[in-house]
Amino acid sequence: MTKIISPSMLSADFGNLQAMCEMINASEAEWLHFDVMDGVFVPNISFGFPVIEAVKKHCRKMLDVHIMIVQPEKYVQRFAKAGAGVLTFHYEATENPDEVIRLIRAEGIKVGICVNPDIPVKVLEPFIEKVDMVLLMSVFAGFGGQKFIEETYSRIDELKEMIDRMNPDCLIEIDGGVTLENAPKLFAHGVNVLVAGSTVYNATNPQQMIIDLKC
Ligand code: DX5
Ligand code: ZN
Repeated sequence: MTKIISPSMLSADFGNLQAMCEMINASEAEWLHFDVMDGVFVPNISFGFPVIEAVKKHCRKMLDVHIMIVQPEKYVQRFAKAGAGVLTFHYEATENPDEVIRLIRAEGIKVGICVNPDIPVKVLEPFIEKVDMVLLMSVFAGFGGQKFIEETYSRIDELKEMIDRMNPDCLIEIDGGVTLENAPKLFAHGVNVLVAGSTVYNATNPQQMIIDLKC
């Protein structure tokens, strides 16, 4: 089973992003996670295109871009141009998820769809066959360093059942409150990609933490 760690840049030292890229390049992380927040869909503002473009120049890992923005359809092309390898939008943030999926596909990059913890997993069913990844938030989108919501496990099981039935190649990603304690259980439930922000960047040895999260 695929096990991928995608450290979230949100918890990195923004004053030294080149050092972060070098750390990530030399680490066992397969992806690097970007949290783009617009202050409308979520009550926080993070960063946008120039930061992704700058990091892209130095980072050799796949850029896993999670957009917490309203009207994602407006910006798909620019995220693809900035270097996104997988672009994940929120189901709740658009009136037309099918159109967003179509636009991302047209850019030739991987498509992810995401829901917050209060959205029933069932709403994703019509999209499972059309996407490469489903991201289930295990905290409410908006801030790093929150506590993992335990109900996430039953949501993963429900999603996994749909994926096995409809599109077994579709990856499951979990984002929020991932720690050394819950990582093995998450992988055991069938998760493929773990996003980890504070757990990686607050570690004394982030590269070792990335290895330990995969065990
Ligand atoms: C939250 C973001 C997460 C966040 C995770 O809105 O989507 O990616 O950076 O941070 P931790 O791992 O610290 O919960
Ligand atoms: Zn995220």
